[in-house]
Amino acid sequence: MTMYRWNILALLLIAPSLINCAVIVNDGDIDEQGLYSKSDHVVILTQRNFERRVYGQSHAAVVQFYNSYCGHCRAFAPKFKSLAAEIVPWRNIIQLKVIDCSVEENNEICREFEVMAYPSIRYIHEHYVKGNGNVGDRIIMTDTAEKLKAQLINKMHTEQSMGRLAFAPKFDITSYATYAAALSGVPFDTSYTFLVFENENSTIGSELALDINDYKQVIVKRVYDTSELAVVAGLTHFPGLVAVHSTLDTTNLTPKNTAKQNLLRAVNTYLKSKHYTFPVRDIADQDVLPYEHSDENNQRTSDSDTVYYSDLEKTLKTSLHTEITRHKSLSGEALNALLNYLDVLRTTFPFKNNNLKDYIEDLYNTLQSRNQWSGSDIYDLVKRLETAHAPIFNTQLEYIGCKGSQSKYRGYTCGLWTLFHTLTVNAAQKSGTKGPKVLAAMHGYVKHFFGCTECSEHFQAMAARNRLFDVKENDKAVLWLWISHNEVNLRLAGDITEDPEHPKIQFPSVSKCPECRLARGAWNLPAVYQYLQNLYGAASIQEYRRARSAASAPSPFSNLDIGMLSLLYILSFLILILVIKYFFTKRFYRKRHYKHGMGKV
Ligand SMILES: Cc1cc2nc3c(=O)[nH]c(=O)nc-3n(C[C@H](O)[C@H](O)[C@H](O)COP(=O)(O)OP(=O)(O)OC[C@H]3O[C@@H](n4cnc5c(N)ncnc54)[C@H](O)[C@@H]3O)c2cc1C
Ligand SMILES: *[C@@H]1O[C@H](CO)[C@@H](O)[C@H](O)[C@H]1NC(C)=O
Repeated sequence: MTMYRWNILALLLIAPSLINCAVIVNDGDIDEQGLYSKSDHVVILTQRNFERRVYGQSHAAVVQFYNSYCGHCRAFAPKFKSLAAEIVPWRNIIQLKVIDCSVEENNEICREFEVMAYPSIRYIHEHYVKGNGNVGDRIIMTDTAEKLKAQLINKMHTEQSMGRLAFAPKFDITSYATYAAALSGVPFDTSYTFLVFENENSTIGSELALDINDYKQVIVKRVYDTSELAVVAGLTHFPGLVAVHSTLDTTNLTPKNTAKQNLLRAVNTYLKSKHYTFPVRDIADQDVLPYEHSDENNQRTSDSDTVYYSDLEKTLKTSLHTEITRHKSLSGEALNALLNYLDVLRTTFPFKNNNLKDYIEDLYNTLQSRNQWSGSDIYDLVKRLETAHAPIFNTQLEYIGCKGSQSKYRGYTCGLWTLFHTLTVNAAQKSGTKGPKVLAAMHGYVKHFFGCTECSEHFQAMAARNRLFDVKENDKAVLWLWISHNEVNLRLAGDITEDPEHPKIQFPSVSKCPECRLARGAWNLPAVYQYLQNLYGAASIQEYRRARSAASAPSPFSNLDIGMLSLLYILSFLILILVIKYFFTKRFYRKRHYKHGMGKV
């Protein structure tokens, strides 16, 4: 009876939001998610519109699978957007689409598509069908929009040679001796044929053909630059461009600078001079102003070093809902990595309530019952146990300490560092030597589950360099993670993923912990250790945001010039290497003369 009432109550509470959804979503398309919005000329895919927008289309597609918190994905987004804007005229032939795999509801799709690196780019040919292990064709990631475009064109060449993309311009390249021969195959109603003389590997002719694929009675043909016809046309540099009217009147349009943009301009100028009627392009969604995502609460966050329970819970939830469920199938080393992660959570997480602890225990124990799990079974298990132990979270599940000044900054990756610092510190506060196990678990987690591919690769390389697996004591585990995190901070300082409101510093800052530094900038390790203990220890973790204290004094570094700063960075990098060396050659902390040792550095 009571159960029944609860259900009704729940229904009443949920109903309005359902109606709301229905109104906003209607056809399942949404205007923005993660790093992209519709005004970026990409199709935003979600679990709701994926089938309708990917399968059985009359055009080909390039789908980018990304994680909104992965730095590499963030850095790549502007390039992808610029390509999308550039190829708007190709939309009848190929379109760019994106899906944010860090959104929980999209998880199943990313798993089905076996996406294990972010960003991942797949080519989906027209009339694609679901199933049969169809996960698109992998396109190799590139670092520029220009290179990606070239890759797409090459892919389209291959597709066409396999009989697909019949609705696209013909990409093949041929040799001709005469204009008449060059025009022999074109449709009878063609008024203008543009011959692009180039070598087989050049993509300019195809690009031009795609750019003007919607021009009526106009054809672009690729011709070998070694053709006899090139001599006939009097071409001296390549790619060459010659307009041939249906009357066989020819005009050499080759610009001095043969960038594609100049060829396109030459074509348009020529056609204009012939009073050609250009197609009316639907630019309705092209003139939307670029829109900066910005949080309503954009005020400067206080730079206090405080760990919030809410950050830990939100990180944990994201990790369990969207990261550990990523693999299509999980066994062996990866399953082991998951068990190790849950094991250190179970034993060293500073639980504030027993529900969360029981839930993690239950998850840990249940996962041990099989040698192999599918990602979707793990997801079902996570959801089932979460309900069984509800409520497991204490907070609103929002980032407080890890909140970025804009939504594209910080968040989950910050949460993950915070979580693992908290775990190493709390392991050190307990009996036994779980600290090194935390590091090993972090290594396994980052290797197998962390959805930021480049972070994962960097971290594994760093772990090998800094000898993560040689750490045998709790206090060293705490310091290993601190110094390694500083190494990452050093590498990322000034990177485009850096939140301007939260610059990457060598942590802790001089103002937060003056005693952490010795003369000449060397670290005072016992003081650093103490600082980390105070910051990440269970007793210091804040449940809610503390009332803002009086404005903190301005940082003494704010007026330092760039040269000085880079010098400091180089210095701290050297110190870092020295500290790591010191680490493994001398015993740390218990030796009294240790401080003097550092002083000599
Ligand atoms: C394992 C791992 C590898 C990563 N690799 C990359 C990468 O290769 N490329 C990339 O672009 N991004 C990478 N990231 C993300 C990047 O490190 C940051 O998390 C992200 O840029 C957000 O930075 P942030 O300002 O929130 O501070 P974070 O660096 O995320 O730090 C979070 C908080 O930890 C505290 N903190 C900072 N330094 C230390 C320290 N030395 N010891 C203890 N506490 C500290 C501070 O309070 C800080 O606010 C990685 C993240 C992780 C977890
Ligand atoms: C085109 O590329 C292929 C493969 O890289 C190469 O063998 C060939 O020589 C290239 N052709 C020209 C004209 O550069």
